[in-house]
Amino acid sequence: MKKLVVLTGAGMSAESGIRTFRDSNGLWEEYDVMEVASIEGWHKNPELMLRFYNERRKQMFSCQPNKGHLLLAALEKEFEVCIITQNIDNLHEQAGSTKVVHLHGELSKARSSADPTLIYAIGNRDILMGEKCAKGSQLRPFIVWFGEEVPAMAEAVPLVESADILCIIGTSLNVYPAAGLLHYAPNGCPVFLIDPNPPKDLPRRIQVIAKGAGEGVEELANKLIILI
Ligand code: APR
Repeated sequence: MKKLVVLTGAGMSAESGIRTFRDSNGLWEEYDVMEVASIEGWHKNPELMLRFYNERRKQMFSCQPNKGHLLLAALEKEFEVCIITQNIDNLHEQAGSTKVVHLHGELSKARSSADPTLIYAIGNRDILMGEKCAKGSQLRPFIVWFGEEVPAMAEAVPLVESADILCIIGTSLNVYPAAGLLHYAPNGCPVFLIDPNPPKDLPRRIQVIAKGAGEGVEELANKLIILI
């Protein structure tokens, strides 16, 4: 089976009702990203950050996978599909995708603020101030914040380097190192991008499908049939 590697961003979950970050009415229009999504913000006001992620976790659990998530999962019948997502929701997994790498963490998990290897599944419950890990430090969201390393890149880069096909869905390609992954695609590997408002100045090799995730993945699947 050919390997289809898919890099997704917030736009992948937009049709499930989860806000993106940089569209109009995006999250970063309402919140200061450095106050609610950075390690400096955590040290300055952990209560605010716990509230921010508790709200997003509750919202996430009220959302369902959309047509795009479901079609990507269905493509596992024809391809070895590897999803690399910047999203912290679990909609790819809920749709049935079996290989999902989360670059920026997962809302459904918590971690020790002292030991990043101490990770706890918490489902949709809140993380509260005073909740401690096994080593006695405050629990925090299992999220990669601005100013922190992205350990999952070690897994993501080899996946893109070994792709037969790469598809980028619903990301403004604003945030590194995730945005740099597209440059690891092998020569000759077709690269598609699905986004109703595609980023400007894309590399010429990228074939743009200027549609939303649901319709876009459907069009992609029709294009891929000849590559099976
Ligand atoms: N289908 C596909 N793409 C869409 C849709 C849709 N229905 N609606 C919007 N988009 C596109 C937008 O045009 C935009 O290009 O999704 C992209 C969303 O971009 P951002 O809001 O910047 O989200 P993302 O690229 O995932 O942000 C990357 O930034 O703040 C950090 O950690 C956060 O993981 C996030 C990272």
